[in-house]
Amino acid sequence: MDAVRFDVAAHPGAQAYKLLAGLVVPRPIALVTTLDAQGVVNAAPFSFFNVMGTEPPLAVLAPGDREDGTPKDTAANLLANGECVIHLCDEPMADRMVACARSLPPGVSEVDRERLATRPAERVRPPILVDCPVALECRVLDIRRYGENRVVVVEILLAHVRAGIADPVTWRVDYAQYAPVGRMNSPDGYVRTRDIFRKDFPRS
Ligand SMILES: Cc1cc2nc3c(=O)[nH]c(=O)nc-3n(C[C@H](O)[C@H](O)[C@H](O)COP(=O)(O)O)c2cc1C
Repeated sequence: MDAVRFDVAAHPGAQAYKLLAGLVVPRPIALVTTLDAQGVVNAAPFSFFNVMGTEPPLAVLAPGDREDGTPKDTAANLLANGECVIHLCDEPMADRMVACARSLPPGVSEVDRERLATRPAERVRPPILVDCPVALECRVLDIRRYGENRVVVVEILLAHVRAGIADPVTWRVDYAQYAPVGRMNSPDGYVRTRDIFRKDFPRS
């Protein structure tokens, strides 16, 4: 094939972001609730995110810094108290999920601003957003810097899944009942997950 080479190592940051965040798609989106020291609930979306293993159940996300170099609220809260709830969002939640990306003054909660209903989580202090189909209670295992990146590894402790989506006996997910939105290119590209096709898994 004819291929164009992009030296991403020589052009990190904004240039590499355009290409890599545009190519590695669709990405799942974590809508993350955390708590600050005053108990204010923060909610923000992150698409540098995925589940990374199951024994123990792991997820990874990368909440970065603001342009002034200070950590975003999610990163600051995770550094301070190590607890979050990660939500997956379907189309009815998409507008409010995106609105949570707005930078608000310290102490102002996206949860209040977007009128997001909450209920207490069981094993962590940040609350669950009740309108999201999936909420994963998590605690931080590790936070590392790689250059300008901050990678947060969390253990998933407890999953709350809207009734009808996952079979309580087999734990299998029914995609007729679950269609999370994913991220395409930044800043405004999203994808639906309704167009599923199947291929037999190789058995031999
Ligand atoms: C769909 C979506 C995905 C995003 N993914 C990331 C991400 O992976 N890392 C990041 O630092 N910011 C990401 N952002 C931007 C943050 O959500 C935004 O900076 C937000 O204000 C951070 O909020 P906080 O300061 O309350 O943590 C994303 C925004 C959107 C809309």
